[in-house]
Amino acid sequence: MSINLSNSKPSNRLENILIIGSGGRENSLAWAIQKNELVKKVYLIPGNAGSDRINKCERIKVDINNKNVLVKKLDFLKIDLIVIGPEIPLANGLADFLRKKEFKVFGPGKDGAKLEYSKSWAKEFMQGANIPTANFWKVNSLDEAKKIIHLSSLPLVVKADGLASGKGVFIPDSKDECIRAAESIFNGKFGKSGHVVVLEEKIQGPEVSVFALCDGKRYKLLPTAQDHKRLNEKDKGPNTGGMGAYSPAPLLKQDHLDRIIKEIIDPTIDELNKKNIDYKGVIYFGLMITKSGPKVIEYNCRFGDPECQTIMPLMDQNFVLLLEKCSMGNLIGDEKIYTPDKVSGCVVATAKGYPHEYKTGFPIKIGKIDTVDCQIFDSGTSLNKNGELITDGGRVLSIVCQDKDFDMVFEKAYKNLKEINFNGIYFRNDIGHQVRKNFSKGN
Ligand code: AMP
Ligand code: GLY
Repeated sequence: MSINLSNSKPSNRLENILIIGSGGRENSLAWAIQKNELVKKVYLIPGNAGSDRINKCERIKVDINNKNVLVKKLDFLKIDLIVIGPEIPLANGLADFLRKKEFKVFGPGKDGAKLEYSKSWAKEFMQGANIPTANFWKVNSLDEAKKIIHLSSLPLVVKADGLASGKGVFIPDSKDECIRAAESIFNGKFGKSGHVVVLEEKIQGPEVSVFALCDGKRYKLLPTAQDHKRLNEKDKGPNTGGMGAYSPAPLLKQDHLDRIIKEIIDPTIDELNKKNIDYKGVIYFGLMITKSGPKVIEYNCRFGDPECQTIMPLMDQNFVLLLEKCSMGNLIGDEKIYTPDKVSGCVVATAKGYPHEYKTGFPIKIGKIDTVDCQIFDSGTSLNKNGELITDGGRVLSIVCQDKDFDMVFEKAYKNLKEINFNGIYFRNDIGHQVRKNFSKGN
């Protein structure tokens, strides 16, 4: 039975939760959600092999694009709340569809997801609301791009407008490279996502991720985080989905955060309202702290991965209640996000070759792992015919630890990571280097 939001008070029942998505992010959401004793079952569509190790969790095989079958299944399972993890179903309007079927959904509709699925739209949105961001040019052809690149005296960043699994941003070192990047996008490297290109002024500064849980009008901020996007130590090598993260980000003192709220977060919510976009979900603000103040690098309509894995262990049992309130437009504004007096850090283990070509199917051996303040969240794993855990993705799993300070966190994370092995395992040893007092730069 779906919940009738229009005719009656929405049910307060919160027994059966559904999470859509297959990554480490979704497993960490499931892990935090199951903490609440009201929650009896957490279903994941499709989840991965790691979902099976989480209390109360069960994987469900349903094609989310087969809408009739999906709704029948959700009715049968008496789903009380749906959390949509990844951007693609959100961009395809899955939240709108499920809301029309009277489910409570945490995740924006297609209109809100546009913050992520069209970079040019997001830039115009920011321009309209006077939200600080890098200067930009939206271009529709290679000729147009070439003109701007030739005329520009500043270094530029080249971006495909649409979704490109984190691969659509180029940071060229020369004008020639800039043109080649624009050319490759217009030549179809990202299909329809590259029909429009955004050229941006290259800005500089440390990056932080800020997450706002929104109910359409109000929001609550989660602890901040910083991730490591580059593949190799010393933040070198190609960009990846994220090789590790830590939370909260000590870089953001309260006065920074106050400025971010005033100049970026509040104006974003106001502009969404002005545009009649009823945003019920998380807004991920990817920020750069430049010399002239914080600027938005990008918006995402979902939790960051691996920031989510890092933040979720800091949440208490009330987290799922916040998601539910957002889904119903019911935040009061004085909700407290209780966080322990601890910090959290996450190291991602990848397959050899990631973010380029890699092989899958290698058995994963997990030895003796600390059980307190230490979690393994699988990102790309499955079970083979014999029920053994095997690698099944580029980012395979992450280890997340909490402790009093970041030195203790990462000492524990790396100690436990030694207990995990698979053919070709790769991870960075310097995750959190900025916040580890004992970290030797010579490492
Ligand atoms: P995005 O997918 O838009 O987050 O971009 C991926 C990464 O590219 C960001 O995390 C930044 O490190 C970098 N980047 C994006 N836009 C800019 C910019 N305008 N200036 C400098 N670096 C950028
Ligand atoms: N960690 C970056 C992202 O999720 O896009």
